[in-house]
Amino acid sequence: MLQVLPVTAPDKADCLLVGVDDKRKAPGLKAFGIQNDAAAAALADANVPLAFKAVRSFPHGKGWLLLVGLGDPKKLTQEKIGTLANLGARAAGALGCKVAATSLVLDTWKDAAATQAVTQGALIGALDFDQWKSKKPETAADPTAAKKDPDAGKLQTLQVLLPAGAAGTAARKAVERALLAAEAVNDSRLLSNTPANVATPAWMAEQAKARGTKHGFAVAVKGRAELRREGFGALCGVAQGSLNEEKLVTMDYHPKGAKKTLVVVGKGVCFDSGGISLKPGDKMWEMKYDKIGACNTIALMGVLKRLGVKHRVVGITPLVENLPSGAAQRPGDIVTAKDGTTIEVLNTDAEGRLILADAMAHARTFEPDWIIDMATLTGACEVAVGPTHVAIMGNQDKFAQQLVADSRAAGDKGWHLPQGEEFDEANKGAYADLQNISLTNRAGSSIGGSFIKHFAKDTKWAHLDIASKAWTAGVDYFAKGPTAAGLRIVLQRILEE
Ligand code: BES
Ligand code: MN
Ligand code: ZN
Repeated sequence: MLQVLPVTAPDKADCLLVGVDDKRKAPGLKAFGIQNDAAAAALADANVPLAFKAVRSFPHGKGWLLLVGLGDPKKLTQEKIGTLANLGARAAGALGCKVAATSLVLDTWKDAAATQAVTQGALIGALDFDQWKSKKPETAADPTAAKKDPDAGKLQTLQVLLPAGAAGTAARKAVERALLAAEAVNDSRLLSNTPANVATPAWMAEQAKARGTKHGFAVAVKGRAELRREGFGALCGVAQGSLNEEKLVTMDYHPKGAKKTLVVVGKGVCFDSGGISLKPGDKMWEMKYDKIGACNTIALMGVLKRLGVKHRVVGITPLVENLPSGAAQRPGDIVTAKDGTTIEVLNTDAEGRLILADAMAHARTFEPDWIIDMATLTGACEVAVGPTHVAIMGNQDKFAQQLVADSRAAGDKGWHLPQGEEFDEANKGAYADLQNISLTNRAGSSIGGSFIKHFAKDTKWAHLDIASKAWTAGVDYFAKGPTAAGLRIVLQRILEE
């Protein structure tokens, strides 16, 4: 796996990655103290394309010099800088290089935010979901190389050249943080991409336990019998159609002297067929991704100690499979949630809010300063905010807006959606307190959020509907597959508390 190191000068690098802006200036050449006639000629020749995302290679010493097109420096973002770092690192690997050094931080924003973007882009970008392939792909340079070395064609180390002085100190810190953020993101992505025949609720609970032992947090797991006995009626109702029993996992990172308690809740539907309200077959396989909120939560817990987080952080994941069977919940069933609320299940496919209802009641027993949940809750989310944003809502607008700001800083963009009485109204039941779908067809994400809000009561709460961008066909530096959307937003908030 790729390693990212902050450096003040390159050390035995066989490749140098330098940004070139839309004015065809490459200040990084000077930062590295490089003279390369071929690169200089290319910069001077307007016929050589060097636009955003273009990568051109020039032999340099015993290795290579790569010019990476930045486009208009004023238009750069976290996502774009990360994309360039990933492109550069991959191009270096494809040329057979093992150690590259880059001046991309100096070539872009020259600060901690640029360092974060380069580090995350390179590390998150380096993950391909090839662990299930029985044969590794051939590399162009040497078709047999992959057989000898599974990491053939892959860069091993990316040295990030830091700015001088105080900015350098801040940038070094940013690398250290970004390394752990990227580790959590990749951990979540690998958990998320594990198919449902492996990633059952019990398997997920084991994954949480393993991380607890390794990374210093306590893990408690409740199973079907206990959950039924204790009145988690909404959660158990969803799970009753599956032979793979539900689990409620509570992860508790509790450092000495902690003053605040923060609770993170992640939707963990290991497979969402829709239940008796069965989904259409087209792309149903994507519903193995309906556990991404839970994967994010488990992976996030794994980095808190190493980040030196001073607050108590409790991670809660309700884990179920939503399947049809002779034992499954029927449309029209009325269940009683943990907090006593009665719910008419008008559509068994609106299961996320049901399991979250009970998880929220459990979350409130910790008397937290706030609760944030992450959930692939509604298909409407992508319609509302598109595949580039997470939808953020809550019972205090100020808190939701704070999370929008956090999302920008973290490089995982989100946008604020409304909450209010009109949405609460849509969730009122005819024969029970609530019903799990509204009979209007509008603002599905806000209505879904409002259902969860009912269970937050007077606790400060925010909801990240991540269904919009929790997986991708391939965007920015993300390979096709899960993106861990939302994880970095919540992490940013925890670090800012
Ligand atoms: N897990 C789905 C939401 C989803 C659908 C996420 C597609 C990503 C892509 C959720 O459980 C669901 O089925 N929601 C329903 C709710 C509806 C029945 C009110 C939906 O969005 O259609
Ligand atoms: Mn569903
Ligand atoms: Zn679902």
